[in-house]
Amino acid sequence: MKEIRVALIGGGGFMGRAHSLGYSVATQLSEVDFRVRKSILVDVDGDAAALAASALGWEASSADWRSVVASPDIDAVDIVTPPGLHKEIALAAIAHGKHVFCEKPITNDVPGALEMWDAAREGGVTNQVGFNYRHIPAITHAKELLSPGKLGAPLQFRGTYLHDALFFISDFGWRGSKATGGSGATGDIGSHLIDIAEYLCGPIVRVSALQVTRDRSHADSGWHKTTDAERGELLDEAATWIAEFENGTIGTFSAGFYSPGKKNALAFEIDATGGAVAFDWNNPDQLIVDLLDDQAAVAGPRTVEVSQGIQEDVWYPVPGLGQGYVDGMAIQLRRFLQAIADDRPATPNFGEAVRIQQVIDAIEQSAFTNAWVTMPDRPKGI
Ligand SMILES: NC(=O)c1ccc[n+]([C@@H]2O[C@H](COP(=O)([O-])OP(=O)(O)OC[C@H]3O[C@@H](n4cnc5c(N)ncnc54)[C@H](O)[C@@H]3O)[C@@H](O)[C@H]2O)c1
Repeated sequence: MKEIRVALIGGGGFMGRAHSLGYSVATQLSEVDFRVRKSILVDVDGDAAALAASALGWEASSADWRSVVASPDIDAVDIVTPPGLHKEIALAAIAHGKHVFCEKPITNDVPGALEMWDAAREGGVTNQVGFNYRHIPAITHAKELLSPGKLGAPLQFRGTYLHDALFFISDFGWRGSKATGGSGATGDIGSHLIDIAEYLCGPIVRVSALQVTRDRSHADSGWHKTTDAERGELLDEAATWIAEFENGTIGTFSAGFYSPGKKNALAFEIDATGGAVAFDWNNPDQLIVDLLDDQAAVAGPRTVEVSQGIQEDVWYPVPGLGQGYVDGMAIQLRRFLQAIADDRPATPNFGEAVRIQQVIDAIEQSAFTNAWVTMPDRPKGI
């Protein structure tokens, strides 16, 4: 049985815990033909690394990612540092022939993302990016219901990803600067929405956007527009955009860190030629589905409980027991590990993440220029 030895880089933080838990159950969801070893957890803070490694079940810890990605005792490198570090670590890991899982957004800009994709293709390593929501069974099921499924072809996408988690935080940490965080709400949480929209409705071809950031001069001050000269290097804290897709679907999107009462409020609705489907992360096992060909006597939106039998990644035999954040992490990591074990590509790969980075870039350009921005050509190989 193939054994995959993993190094987790940046493991002392939030995603360090989520990925550690994911690896612990990834091979236990159902039978797999490989073994995973949680070999080493790395964090720049050596004490945090040692504590996290011991609490989260890693064999060893280190404060030096460079020596770890070069080690012959490691097969796969999982990067959960702030985005500004992703590229350097991924390129080094690929140069040493390691398979790479990288958290989203893949990096801070399109040229950097392309460099990572080119290196991964040339190196022939399995690569995947942490767009975890597309892996949860309800969203996988929505994909199956859409074209060529019962719902038909998508016509209109309406998506929101809103939070109040950062509402009261004056120190944004790495999320507060372009060098470490890349793009603000658009790149951080909006990137998940873009991934889901493209996964379900196909490629976006053009966008028109507004991005704003908080004016912090008084507690009750409102937004700066991105076009304000004094905005400088501040990152967007809320964004709204409309998009046109290659297949004619039209979309509206909203992403923001300043939405009181919104707790990881990731939700979307899709109108399609055969009906409609709606998803809300706060009920992650359910889809609301409406079918146009229903008999009049029973027509109307119904709740579909996504259970075992509908989706293989629901592993409880009893419907309604619920899956959560860790389950989604485990499913995406199991798919990454299975791709390595089978020696085949994983998805969403670095190339797909370049696409998402291109959309983030286009949104930013549109917000700055007050004009529609057309997407560039897709990267080679996707
Ligand atoms: N997929 C999701 O749902 C999701 C959710 C949250 C964050 N993320 C992404 O995960 C990544 C990390 O986010 P987070 O919330 O875990 O951040 P975090 O700040 O909680 O953790 C980052 C960790 O990286 C460590 N680090 C910094 N520089 C390092 C270096 N040079 N070498 C080794 N370690 C270093 C820090 O000490 C910290 O422990 C980001 O790309 C973020 O966008 C994804």
